[in-house]
Amino acid sequence: MCEKCKGNYYITTPIYYPSANLHIGHAYCTVATDTMARYKRLQGYNVKFLTGTDEHGQKIEDKAKEAGVTPQQFVDNIVLGEKGVLDLWKLMNISYDRFIRTTDDYHVAAIQKIFKKMYDNGDIYKGKYTGKYCKPCESFWTESQLVEGKCPDCGRDVQDAQEEAYFFRLSKYADRVQDLLENTDFLEPRSRVNEMVNNFIKPGLEDLCVSRTSFTWGVPVDFDEGHVVYVWIDALFNYMTALGFENDKYDDLAAFWPADVHFVGKEIVRFHSIIWPAMLMSLDLPLPKKVYGHGWLNFNGEKMSKSRGNVVDPYLLSERFGVDALRFFLLRTFPFGSDGNFTNELLMATINTDLANTLGNLVSRTTAMNQKYFGGSLNAGGESAELDGELKALAAEVFANYEKQMDKFQFSIALNEVFRLLDRANKYIDETTPWILAKSEETMPRLLTVMKNLCECIRMAAILITPFMPETAEKIFNQLNVSAEARSWNARCYCADESAVWNTTVGTPLFPRLDVEKELAALEELSKPAKPALEIEPYSEENVDFDTFCKSDFRAVKVIDCKNVKKSDKLLQFTLDDGTGTERQILSGIAKFYKPEELIGKTLVAIVNLPPRKMMGRESCGMLLSAIHSEGGEEKLNLIMVDDAIPAGAKLC
Ligand code: MSP
Repeated sequence: MCEKCKGNYYITTPIYYPSANLHIGHAYCTVATDTMARYKRLQGYNVKFLTGTDEHGQKIEDKAKEAGVTPQQFVDNIVLGEKGVLDLWKLMNISYDRFIRTTDDYHVAAIQKIFKKMYDNGDIYKGKYTGKYCKPCESFWTESQLVEGKCPDCGRDVQDAQEEAYFFRLSKYADRVQDLLENTDFLEPRSRVNEMVNNFIKPGLEDLCVSRTSFTWGVPVDFDEGHVVYVWIDALFNYMTALGFENDKYDDLAAFWPADVHFVGKEIVRFHSIIWPAMLMSLDLPLPKKVYGHGWLNFNGEKMSKSRGNVVDPYLLSERFGVDALRFFLLRTFPFGSDGNFTNELLMATINTDLANTLGNLVSRTTAMNQKYFGGSLNAGGESAELDGELKALAAEVFANYEKQMDKFQFSIALNEVFRLLDRANKYIDETTPWILAKSEETMPRLLTVMKNLCECIRMAAILITPFMPETAEKIFNQLNVSAEARSWNARCYCADESAVWNTTVGTPLFPRLDVEKELAALEELSKPAKPALEIEPYSEENVDFDTFCKSDFRAVKVIDCKNVKKSDKLLQFTLDDGTGTERQILSGIAKFYKPEELIGKTLVAIVNLPPRKMMGRESCGMLLSAIHSEGGEEKLNLIMVDDAIPAGAKLC
C-alpha cells in the first residue's frame, strides 16, 4: 500500500445474467457501485471494483437452443456483441477494475477445486433431490416455501424435480448465520435481516441441492461425470476467484479479501446473506464485511419485465439526455434501500429542476458575471462581509454530512446536502445582487469577493458530484480552470479570501432545459418496438425456359361477387368478369386475410389456363395472384390489384 493511500477497498456488483438485454434496473445497481467506487478513490482508497457476467445454467442452455447457437456463442454475443454488457458499461462510464465471466477457464477450474474441498470436508454429500424447481430463477424450493404454489421470488410456476444430486449442509450453519445476521451489521438495511431470519432461517434451513444432472451448461463436477455445479455456487465464488482464490490468474486475495461490501438487489439477498456466508464458514474463510440489499426500480408502478414490454432502455435515455443526467437521476431520486418508481416525467422534472435550474444556472450565471465584470479574471483583493462566513460554514457542514451519508450508501441524502450548498449559493446571488455592485467603482472590491465565493461554492460542489457525474464535474472544473489538486478530496478547505485568484471561462450550458411535452412525445416514438423483421420466400434456383413461361395466361379480372364458402374458414368464392362475356369462378384460400365485401369491384390478376380443379365440391377455374411474405413469424398476404382503368380480360405479360 502506498503512503498516501487510505487503505484498500473492495466493492462488487452482482454479476449479470446474460439471458436478455440489460435494462435500467440492472444499470441502477452498477451505477450505484460505480459511484461508491469513485467516491472511495476520490477519498484516496486503493479501490478494486469487480463486475462481470454469470453465464451458466439451464436458462442460458435453453435460450441458446432456441436461438440455434451454442451456449458459449449465445453468451459471447450478449456480453461482447454490439450494445452488449461491455458496451453498456462503457456508455454508462462504469469504472470497473476487473470484469469476470464465469465461463473464464480460471474461474471454472477454481470452482471445481472449491466444490471438491467442500466435498472432502464433508459439507457436500450425495443424496436424492425431490422438490420444486423454478427454472427462470434457477432456484429450488420446498413445498412450504412456495407462495400459492408458485416461486416465492418471481411468482411463476415451479416444476417437480427428482434426481441424484449433491447437497450442501446449509442446515449445519443455520445458527451461526442467524447470529451473524441478528448480531452484526453484516446485512443492511436492517429491514432485510428480519425478512431473512423470519422467512428463511426460522422455518428451518434445509440442506441445499448444489448439483444438477438434467443439463450440461455449467461447471462439471470433476469427480462425478454428468453432474454440473449449481449455478449459484459458481456465481457467488466469483467474488473470490476474481482476486485469485484457487487460481494463479490473479494475486489480490490478501490485499482485498474480505470484500468491504457486496451491493445486491433485494431478490438475491437470500443467496448473499445465508448461502454465501455458510459456504465461506464451511471453508473457514473470512466473511465479507457487508452485504447491502438495495430496492427495485419499477416502471410506471409496475415491475419491469420483458414480457410486459415495459423495460426502460438505458441506451435510449443516455443518448437522449446524457449519461450523467441518467446516473444522477437514479441515485438522487430513489433511496437506495427502498423500491422506486421510474417514470420519464420524473426523470425530466429532475433534470430541469436540479440540473438545469439549480446546478447549470449557478455555473452559467457565475461564469457569465465573471466574464462581464472582470473579463474572467478574479485577481487578489476584495472585501468580505458577514454573509460570506455563512457560506463557508455551510460548505464545511455539507462536506461532513455528505461523507457520513455516502459511507452509509445513502446516495440521495448525500446529494440533498450538495443541493443545500447549491441552493444557498443561488440565494447568495439574489442577496448580494452583483449587477448592482457592478454599477459603482466603490463596490467593485465587494463584487470581487462575492464572485470568488460563488466560484468556491461551485468548486466544492463539483468535488462532491464527481462520483455521481464525472463528466459534468470535469466540465465545471475546466470552466473554473482549477488545478488537479483543487479538484481533489483533500482540497475541501474553503478559501475565498483576498489571496484567492480565479480565471474562469464561459462554457455551453451544462444541462439545457427540456421541453417535457416534446421530449415525452419523442420518447414514445423512439420506444415503439422496431418493425418485426420481414422474411421473404427463398428465391427459386431452378430456371424456367421462356417458352414455358409464355404459356401462362395472366389476365386482369374484375370481382363481380365474392363470398365465404360454407364450412370452410379458408376459402373465398369469386365470381369474376374475365372479359369473355361468361362469368368465371375461382376459389382462393385467402379468407383469413380479406373480408369478401372489401374485394367486390376490385381489379385482380388471375392465371386462367390452369386445368379446373374441385375444392369443397365447387369448381375453381384458375388462380388469383397474390404477394406473400412473413413478418415477425406471421404470414402476410396481399392480392395483386391493378389499376381499375385496365379492362377485364386484358392480357398481362
Ligand atoms: N446472476 C445473478 C447475480 C449473481 S451475483 C453472484 C443475478 N443476475 S441478474 O442479471 O438477474 O440481476 C443483476 C442485478 O440486477 C441484481 O442485483 C438484480 O437485483 C438487479 N436488478 C434486476 N432488475 C432490477 C430492477 N428492476 N431494479 C433494480 N435492480 C434490479 O441476479
